Amino acid sequence: MSTTPQGFKGCCAGLYELPITTLLLGESHHPGGAQLTRQLAESVLVGPDTRVLDVACGRGTTARLLAEEFGAQVTGVDYSDLIVQNARRATRAAGLEARVDFRTGDAEHLPCEDASIDVVLCECALCTFPDAPRALREFYRVLKPGGRLGISDIVVNREMPAALQTVVGHVVCIAGARSADGYLELIDEAGFNTTRSRNASSALLEMMTRVEQRLRLADVIAQLETLELPDDLTHSAETLDEARSFITAGGAGYALFSARKPR
Ligand SMILES: C[S@@+](CC[C@H](N)C(=O)[O-])C[C@H]1O[C@@H](n2cnc3c(N)ncnc32)[C@H](O)[C@@H]1O
Repeated sequence: MSTTPQGFKGCCAGLYELPITTLLLGESHHPGGAQLTRQLAESVLVGPDTRVLDVACGRGTTARLLAEEFGAQVTGVDYSDLIVQNARRATRAAGLEARVDFRTGDAEHLPCEDASIDVVLCECALCTFPDAPRALREFYRVLKPGGRLGISDIVVNREMPAALQTVVGHVVCIAGARSADGYLELIDEAGFNTTRSRNASSALLEMMTRVEQRLRLADVIAQLETLELPDDLTHSAETLDEARSFITAGGAGYALFSARKPR
C-alpha cells in the first residue's frame, strides 16, 4: 500500500468504492447516518436554496437528503470518479438532478470558485485527508463571507494503539483523527470563528456494532458460497475489533463541529 499523500487518498477512495463497504456501513458512510446529517445541517442553518458543498460526499446520500428535506442546492465533491458516477446515477433515479450535482475532486484543491458557497459540509472525512489544514483553508476560500462550516468526525481522546495507526486505520477514518480541541484549533487556524462542538459518540459505537454484525454475516455467507472476502476486508475486521475496544474505553468518539467565516 502506498504511503504518499496521493496514495493514501486513492487507497481511502478505493475502499469506499467497494460495494461491500456500503453493505457494511449502509447508504451513509458515517456514524449516525441521516439523523446526524439532519442535526449537522440544522446547526449550520441549511434551508431552501442554501448553496451547499458536501466535501467527500461519497454516494451522495447527504446531498440528496439536503435537497429533498431542506430544499437546498447541493454540489458533492469526491476524490473517486467511480463514486461520483454512482452518486449521479442515484440522483437521476431520484429525480433530483436539478438540485444536486457532483464533481470529481480533491478536498485539498476544491474544484469551486472563491466565495461561491453558503455552507460547506464534511462528514467523517477530514480525518482521512493527509493535509487537513489545507482542506480547511479550501473550505474557507470557497465560502461566502458569513458562510457556515459543518464537520462531523472521529475524535480521539488519547493515543491510539499501534495497530490503529496503520494505513488501514487511516482508511477506516481513525488514524488521522484528532481530539475535539485539536479540530477546534484547526478550524480556528483556518480563520473561522464562533466554533461549536457537540459530542455524538454513541453514534460511533452503534456503527461499530452494526459493522461487526454485518462482517460476521458476510463471513458466514462467504463460507456458504465458498467466496473469498477481499484481504483488505479481513484486515479491516481486525482493525475494527481493536477500534471497538478503544472506543468502549473512552479512547475515541464522534463529534459535530460548526463554525462561521467572518463577514
Ligand atoms: C467515510 S467516507 C464519507 C462519505 C460521506 N461523507 C458520507 O458521510 O457518507 C469518506 C469519503 O471521502 C472520500 N475522500 C477521501 N479522500 C478525499 C479527498 N482528498 N478529497 C475528496 N474526497 C475524498 C472517499 O472517496 C469517500 O467517499
